[in-house]
Amino acid sequence: MSKYINISAIEKKTSNAIETLLISMLLVITCQLSAQNSINIDTKTSLGKTSPYIFGQFIEYMGRDIEGGIYDPKSALSNADGIRLDVLEKAKELAPTMIRFPGGTFVKTFHWMDGVGARDQRRPSKNLIWGGINTFQFGTCEFIEYCRAIGCEPVLVVNIATGTPDEAANWVEYCNGTEDTYFANLRRSHGYPEPFNVKYWALGNEEAAEPDAGRHQDPQKYVTDMWHFIKLMKLTDPSIELIADGERGLPEWNKTVIKGMDGAINYISFHAYVGTDSGHPYSIFHKINNVEKDLNEFHQLMKANSSDVVTNWKKWYRFPARTQPLKMAIDEWGIWEYQDPPYGTTNTYEWRHALATAYFLNAFLRCADFVGMANWAQMVNILAPIMTNEQTSIRQTVFYPIKEYRAHALGEVVKAEATSPSIDGDLQALNVVCSIDRTSGRLSLFVVNLSPKTVKASFNIDGKESALVEDVITLTGERIDAKNVLSVPDKDVVSVRTEKLTKRLRDFSFSAESVQILSIRL
Ligand code: AHR
Repeated sequence: MSKYINISAIEKKTSNAIETLLISMLLVITCQLSAQNSINIDTKTSLGKTSPYIFGQFIEYMGRDIEGGIYDPKSALSNADGIRLDVLEKAKELAPTMIRFPGGTFVKTFHWMDGVGARDQRRPSKNLIWGGINTFQFGTCEFIEYCRAIGCEPVLVVNIATGTPDEAANWVEYCNGTEDTYFANLRRSHGYPEPFNVKYWALGNEEAAEPDAGRHQDPQKYVTDMWHFIKLMKLTDPSIELIADGERGLPEWNKTVIKGMDGAINYISFHAYVGTDSGHPYSIFHKINNVEKDLNEFHQLMKANSSDVVTNWKKWYRFPARTQPLKMAIDEWGIWEYQDPPYGTTNTYEWRHALATAYFLNAFLRCADFVGMANWAQMVNILAPIMTNEQTSIRQTVFYPIKEYRAHALGEVVKAEATSPSIDGDLQALNVVCSIDRTSGRLSLFVVNLSPKTVKASFNIDGKESALVEDVITLTGERIDAKNVLSVPDKDVVSVRTEKLTKRLRDFSFSAESVQILSIRL
């Protein structure tokens, strides 16, 4: 028998052994991969309390944001005051906590008196900054009413370029005055007996931008000029809070402004727009990572140049110094792909842009400790979540993450980190942030999965290797480049699914190219 070796038996045995070896190698690799994918949450490490005002919006006299969007007397969808009711309904659904008005760069030519009083007396004028003509039929009072209808806080931006300190102070008096003064009475005569109590006021916008009619390339001049505005505005109403103009990428400007105005200001601004480099769809996410780095650097600069507790305040200022640490106002942020006029701001957003919006919000939440407000720029038609034509309006893809984050972020952010495969250079598939409500013991875990594949990751919450997941909200697009468009208003490429689970899970498979919000009970 030994002479006749059974070749086929040997072959079979060898192939069985190879098969077993391959399977075990595959198992080892798979286990290693899923062992590498994890979400670690440390509820003991707080990243700060979340300001309610990070879910703000911005509206400007630019293109059809206000006139032709929010206000459109020609549309059959508007009420007798010209307010587009379909837009208002969508704005309410978005539920911004704050709206900033009326610019933007436009503010450098805005005189608030042009937009109050009898509507037939208002003076239409050329929009020198963005083009077109503005009627100012939607002015201060209409803006305040709009904020009230939505239930949000107004922020007014003052013209410091071609306006004067007393013009700004008169605007404060018009809005907030309670005594028998000319401007408080003017408001009353316009039908508003009660003060508007506008608390937040910004001292200009992107003032260092010389090509944009900015008048203050020298930060020291900005500081000197602002003191005149500050004194008159604060003496008119000492309870108002001021936002100084900060400039991303100009540390010398920011340092001078903070040092020169510390104590008198409550916020300093930071603007962040991103777009996509041609042929590199993930570039937008790398750019948001850079924004986050810049936010943290800006914060270091704020800490180094301002004092948490203001001392030696001059009593002859006659108004009190700020009592809380200086905060950052990201009072314009958004996605600017330079598509259609004006100035490339009529943008149609893909599902990828919705992922970028959530990715941005994750960054802001991680900076909870020092970001006091953030305003998506802008709310309607211009770089916007809501688009209109005369007959209809739609929700762009970016509408959905803005809405869901606003609805589900809890009051504080805790440390959360993901380990997941890299998908483009140092870009990870999973980007996570976790908010907490310590009273009810609930977490909202926000996860953006950039990968075109499902990514399974294990949980580790304070050392415990499982999570009691109650609900999961899943936002997905039909395709990564799917868009909602006005020409097909009834088609929505975004799906928002809510799943009730109440299951203790060791891991979770995050859907491809999705935003998911997991409600977890501690
Ligand atoms: O949001 C559009 C413009 O972008 C704003 O007017 C300006 O502040 C920024 O540069």
